[in-house]
Amino acid sequence: MREQREGRPLQRMFSEVPHRYDIINRLFTLRLDEKWRAMAAAECLKNEPARVLDLCTGTGDMAIRLAAKAGTRTLICGVDFSMPMLDAARQKSAGTASGTRFVLGDAAGLPFKDGSFPVIGTAFAFRNLTFRNPNRHRHLSELLRVLMPGGKLVIVESSQPRKRIVRFFTHLYLRAAVSFMGGLISGKPGAYRYLVYSAVNYFKPEELSELLRAAGFNRVEYRPLLAGIAAIHVAYK
Ligand SMILES: C[S@@+](CC[C@H](N)C(=O)[O-])C[C@H]1O[C@@H](n2cnc3c(N)ncnc32)[C@H](O)[C@@H]1O
Repeated sequence: MREQREGRPLQRMFSEVPHRYDIINRLFTLRLDEKWRAMAAAECLKNEPARVLDLCTGTGDMAIRLAAKAGTRTLICGVDFSMPMLDAARQKSAGTASGTRFVLGDAAGLPFKDGSFPVIGTAFAFRNLTFRNPNRHRHLSELLRVLMPGGKLVIVESSQPRKRIVRFFTHLYLRAAVSFMGGLISGKPGAYRYLVYSAVNYFKPEELSELLRAAGFNRVEYRPLLAGIAAIHVAYK
């Protein structure tokens, strides 16, 4: 699979899948995605930040979780470059996450002033921003720009299990079940082929930490989840 030339193919791809996106997520992760998002949200809300940005909010699960757990003094904002995803997020959050704002915007040029957020969280989207993406450096520098000095970026993302046997079966599951069945259920096989290809070939946790440090983050910590199938990285500006 070739490197993406720009963000547009990804934007088109995500705009085609929101109606089945949540159900496929739950099905293939056996609802672990919800648990891992909740852990990342808890990390975001430590020390009651004034504002949290849910980067690449998609259908809004992380933003809704943040809003449900945050105190009244924390403002939650979700950003995504796909309008159909944002429409789904707005519908889902209606009546639940009062005060949450959903904003259309590209991670390569975020519509926020420098230092706007003490915390940025992102769930299952960092891979899209960094896996063979020619805008990778722009995404990383935009994140640093809109983070306050001393602020933190919390990433929950699929990862590479350290043990070879676990890696083997995880990749097998991704290729056999997720790629095939995801394509079938969504009716968009190309989207699920890309998602699986990027997951199978994504960074090891140490490599992702190094990428973040090289981009200019001061300190990076990570915690593997379920034998390293996923991980939470926390990077401080
Ligand atoms: C796999 S979904 C994850 C959605 C959500 N965070 C979740 O937890 O389910 C990735 C999302 O990232 C968005 N996205 C990808 N690249 C983006 C970019 N450059 N700027 C803004 N949003 C982007 C897509 O539109 C999509 O909604």
